[in-house]
Parts: sequence; C-alpha cells; structure tokens
Amino acid sequence: MNNLANKRVLLGVSGSIAAYKSPDIVRRLQDLGAEVRVIITNGGREFVSELSLQTVSKNKVHDNLWDKDAELAMGHIELAKWADAVIIAPASANTIAKLCHGKADDLLSTVILATKAAVLIAPSMNQQMFASKAIKENLEILNNRGVVTIEPGFGEQACGDVGEGRLAEPIEIAKQVANIFSNNTLSGKKVLITIGGTIEAIDPVRYISNHSSGKMGMALAHACVQAGAETTLIVGSISVDVEKRANVTYITSANEMYDAVMKKIKSQDLFISCAAVADFRPTKISQNKIKKDSNLSSIELTRNKDILESVCKLKNKPICIGFAAETENFIANATAKLEIKKCDAIILNDISNTEIGLNSDENEVHFLSQEKTEKIDRSSKQIIAEKIIKKVTKYFF
Ligand code: CTP
Repeated sequence: MNNLANKRVLLGVSGSIAAYKSPDIVRRLQDLGAEVRVIITNGGREFVSELSLQTVSKNKVHDNLWDKDAELAMGHIELAKWADAVIIAPASANTIAKLCHGKADDLLSTVILATKAAVLIAPSMNQQMFASKAIKENLEILNNRGVVTIEPGFGEQACGDVGEGRLAEPIEIAKQVANIFSNNTLSGKKVLITIGGTIEAIDPVRYISNHSSGKMGMALAHACVQAGAETTLIVGSISVDVEKRANVTYITSANEMYDAVMKKIKSQDLFISCAAVADFRPTKISQNKIKKDSNLSSIELTRNKDILESVCKLKNKPICIGFAAETENFIANATAKLEIKKCDAIILNDISNTEIGLNSDENEVHFLSQEKTEKIDRSSKQIIAEKIIKKVTKYFF
C-alpha cells in the first residue's frame, strides 16, 4: 500500500534544525512515486538551501506569498489545488501554532487554509518545547480537525538534550504520507476511458455533434489516476481541462475514436465508455463548403460502429463499463443497453434534467450491473466518479 504513484505531494519546510533533512524527505517521497513541490518558510530557509530542494524536487521552490511572478505562474491557490497531500516536515512550534489559529501570514500557512488536500505534520523541536502544554493542546486541536501528526522520535537532539522531539525518519514520513491514500484500489491496473463528444463532418465548416462537455469522463479519469491506475484517455470534443497525469490521444470523429480505442485496448484491465459517440455520420463529406443554392434538402447518414459493443465482443475483453444517456424509460432503457452491449455495468444518466448530466457540474446516476441496480445520489461529478470507481473495484477487481 505504500505507493504514491501519480500523487502530488507538497512538502512544507519550516524553521527547525531538522530542515537539513528535507531534501532526503523529497527523495523518499519520489521513491514511492510522488511528484513533489516544496514551500519553504523564512525559518526553514535558515537551515537548508533552496537550491538543494530545487535540485532534488526538480521544481522551483515556492517561498513568497507576495511574489507577483510566482502568483502568475503557480500562486497559492494553484498550489493548494495542485496538491493531493501536504506534509509539513519539519513542522516547527511556530508553524504548528499558526495552523492552529488559521493564520495566513506566509505562503505555507495560506496554502494550508486554501487546500482541500490531506494535511500531515511532522513536528520537530527541543524535547522541552514538545512536552509543553501549548504544543500538546495545539496538536490536539489540529488532530480534531483531521490533520495527521507523524510522531517525532526519542533520542539525542541537536541541542544536546535527550528526549522526544526528533523529526521522524524521512522514510517513515514518506510511508505515512503514502498510508493516507488507502484507496490505492487500482494500483497496477490499466484503464482506458473515452471522453467527450465526437464531431462528424458534413463539409469543411459544418458538422454533427452533441452537448457533451467531458466533465464526467474527466472526473472519472481523475478518480482512476488517484486510485493509482495507469490511465489512458481517448478524448473528443470537450470543454474541461485534461487530466495531465493520464496518457491522452485526441480524436475528432467516431471512426477515429473507434480506431484509437482498438489500438490501445489489448493490454487494458478496465474500459470506461463515457464518450457521447455520434451514432451516425454523413455518408459523404463534401470537399467544399455546401452553398445555400445547392438544392440540398437532406443529408444521408451512415451508422457508426458501436465502440462499447465492439470492445465487449473482444475475446479477452477488459471489464467494460458503459453509460446510458436517457430522457425517458430510464431503468428499462439502461437495462436493455446492459443486455444488448453485454457490458459488465452501465451508468444511467438522466439527461432530461438540465441540473444534472450533460454539461452540468453535478450528476445523479444509477449503477446497473448484471446482479443489481444501485442509486448514487446527486453530488458533484467528482464525488460521483469516485463512488463509481469504488463500486467497480469492489465488484470486478
Ligand atoms: N457508445 C459507443 N459507440 C457508439 C454509441 C455509443 O461506444 N457508437 C457507448 C457510449 O459511450 C455509452 C453507451 O454506448 O457508454 C451508450 O450510449 P448512448 O448514447 O446512451 O446510447 P446508444 O447506444 O447510442 O443508443 P441510443 O442512442 O439509442 O440511446
């Protein structure tokens, strides 16, 4: 379980003599597969060089809340959003007190307030300071807020004292960061996801397409990456940012999507068909723009191949999850798709409700497998995606 593959870890280095060990913490986090960025406080800078941290992390060290250039590139909100976990190691008595009171007077404390990521602290200080009532109470407050404390070790300290307060070993810190991602359920698995709408050309300027935004597919991509899967995306027309940690192939038409899927499908463990694939394409694509006086009154259409159905027919098919976008007879239509396409599960979407489904940020779905139908209540697409992936891993892996 000690796997940080695909995880983004933000290391906060604050003012304690043990800050000299922070480059080693970066290395141990990287050994477990993490991408690491570092924020250093003024105190931290007294004990370790930014150049060392920049060299090992292979990223610029972030140190200033008021740096205009940094805010343009990766500011405090971006850093807060970027991280899957924040570990402050060493966490000085002052930094712990600041977190406790929600202060935001430097980059590290501000990022902690702005992040939704898991926060861990590895205290490091003189044994008498660590034994003080103030520190004990501060740690208890943070603990009650969900901050994980990596307990310091006992032994001889830099000041000559002997007691509890030595920074935990870098390898132990890295392992405890990895432990918080107990949802490494797809570690070692390969997942292929189709995302977005396809575009079927009529002539060089017109096309047939649909309203798919790619939000649900990209949320699933994120959930798979978070669960440790090697994730590949076949992406059509979308209006969301692409999950950067996935391998991505861009396509335009249903035919291109079919070819791209078939090229990649062989080694996959899981196929999620989330794309809104056009069922038909114009039989002939006009080479030139069709003029309005051309007397064209209809466009002849040819049926596109059903990608999901084709994958389900493969001899060594992966676990196949389809979507059913419906406006009526919801369960009946979705059940029919489950049977006809012979997939392992279908996620039913009510696209008649504009507050959920296509293009919106929220969704409410039913998870239909051969055995049962379960409702996943209305929530953000990201939460829905995580719940879908949990069910998929529970039932099929
Ligand atoms: N799908 C596919 N290839 C197609 C059409 C659909 O892979 N040419 C997949 C979709 O990605 C989805 C599932 O099949 O996972 C169902 O798609 P949907 O549009 O709901 O249904 P259709 O099969 O197209 O049937 P209908 O349009 O009649 O509802």
